[in-house]
Amino acid sequence: MRFNKKPWFLVLVLCCIFMSFKWKPGLQLYASEKEKSVTVLLWYWPFNRSYGLEDDLCLKNYSVTGCRLVDNRTFHSIADIVVFHHYELVTGSQKLPLHLPRPVQQRWVWLSLEAPRNSWNVSRYTGIFNLTMSYHPGADITVPYGKIKEKGFETDSFFMLKNKTYLACWVVSNYQNQHRRSKVYKQLRKLIPVQVYGRAVRKPLNRDALLPTISRCYFYLAFENTESPHYITEKLWRNSFMAGTVPVVLGPPRSHYEAVTPPRSFIHVDDFDSIASLARFLTEVAGDTRLYRSYFSWHQNYTVKLFTDWRERLCNICQVYDQLPHHKIRSLLET
Ligand SMILES: *[C@@H]1O[C@H](CO)[C@@H](O)[C@H](O)[C@H]1NC(C)=O
Ligand SMILES: *[C@@H]1O[C@H](CO)[C@@H](O)[C@H](O)[C@H]1NC(C)=O
Ligand SMILES: *[C@@H]1O[C@H](CO)[C@@H](O)[C@H](O)[C@H]1NC(C)=O
Ligand SMILES: *[C@@H]1O[C@H](CO)[C@@H](O)[C@H](O)[C@H]1NC(C)=O
Ligand SMILES: *[C@@H]1O[C@H](CO)[C@@H](O)[C@H](O)[C@H]1NC(C)=O
Ligand SMILES: *[C@@H]1O[C@H](CO)[C@@H](O)[C@H](O)[C@H]1NC(C)=O
Ligand SMILES: *[C@@H]1O[C@H](CO)[C@@H](O)[C@H](O)[C@H]1NC(C)=O
Repeated sequence: MRFNKKPWFLVLVLCCIFMSFKWKPGLQLYASEKEKSVTVLLWYWPFNRSYGLEDDLCLKNYSVTGCRLVDNRTFHSIADIVVFHHYELVTGSQKLPLHLPRPVQQRWVWLSLEAPRNSWNVSRYTGIFNLTMSYHPGADITVPYGKIKEKGFETDSFFMLKNKTYLACWVVSNYQNQHRRSKVYKQLRKLIPVQVYGRAVRKPLNRDALLPTISRCYFYLAFENTESPHYITEKLWRNSFMAGTVPVVLGPPRSHYEAVTPPRSFIHVDDFDSIASLARFLTEVAGDTRLYRSYFSWHQNYTVKLFTDWRERLCNICQVYDQLPHHKIRSLLET
């Protein structure tokens, strides 16, 4: 047998071309970046509400590089991360794909932003998930409702100390007598005027009206529906801080708030031995401009970053991907 010279020559040339490409630094960078790209698959949307996932969403909208966020289950076999939202699993509207072969390197993420007393019943999921994702600082991926960040040149759009009309305001949609917050409210309104909005009193505030309305109040009752460790929601970040009111918080202990907020930015219900002394204090602070203003000094250097979009939270997984614990079987604790 004799080989024709021509094909061998061609192969040699092609090889040379290939090698020269391979060693071009630019191309190499491109290749390694491509390898590094993380695919995050959301198995179903939380609360049955889906949002568009255009290509490069993480990069274009949230400046997160090397991150592909998808919700198409055909990506199952290649996804690095698969995210399951807790609520649909407990209600039974969604199921885990336990019948599908699970790629060795793939990690399953359990996601919930609700407080455990309301919804975590996770004992049945022992040995299934690799990572947890929640507002809790002990989660593998912590996704708070908001955070404080150093201020650039932006101004707080709703920050205003003028035109305050009401002493205290509360927005409540889920009013239940047995909630501690309802008891505090009932005592408080006997002592000071409390303006109430929300579905519970048939005075709902739409998105556009919320912050301008609350900004007219000296204090906002940022009362969580569940008192659970580190459970601090948009009632603090958006309704109080972004509206330019002083939050009166009821929720986890003071130290949990202090861990995430600037100094002198809130008033904690538990600081007072009675609701009467809380009411007296609020009246005193509102009547003393200097004292009242001191609760806003942090606005000079800090501003609030609110997290409300599932897509942003999911893209942010890629930012911590390299630091995530490896080969871990997560047992979910009802903390
Ligand atoms: C989710 O929404 C879709 C369309 O909006 C609807 O067809 C489906 O029944 C909903 N599923 C659940 C479990 O509510
Ligand atoms: C993402 O950015 C594009 C272009 O800037 C914009 O049209 C789109 O509404 C953004 N999407 C989200 C979810 O913010
Ligand atoms: C999911 O991806 C598959 C394969 O790429 C494609 O055929 C299908 O149309 C996609 N489904 C949706 C809802 O985009
Ligand atoms: C939690 O799940 C277990 C097992 O599925 C069940 O027996 C128990 O009643 C559930 N508890 C709550 C509070 O839903
Ligand atoms: C102050 O509140 C009143 C309503 O009571 C409103 O008409 C007015 O525009 C507000 N002024 C400013 C500066 O926001
Ligand atoms: C804000 O930052 C400036 C400059 O670093 C500092 O002088 C000032 O004391 C800070 N203000 C507050 C309220 O911390
Ligand atoms: C994820 O958890 C599963 C189930 O516990 C386990 O079999 C698998 O090895 C874990 N995967 C990784 C990458 O840690």
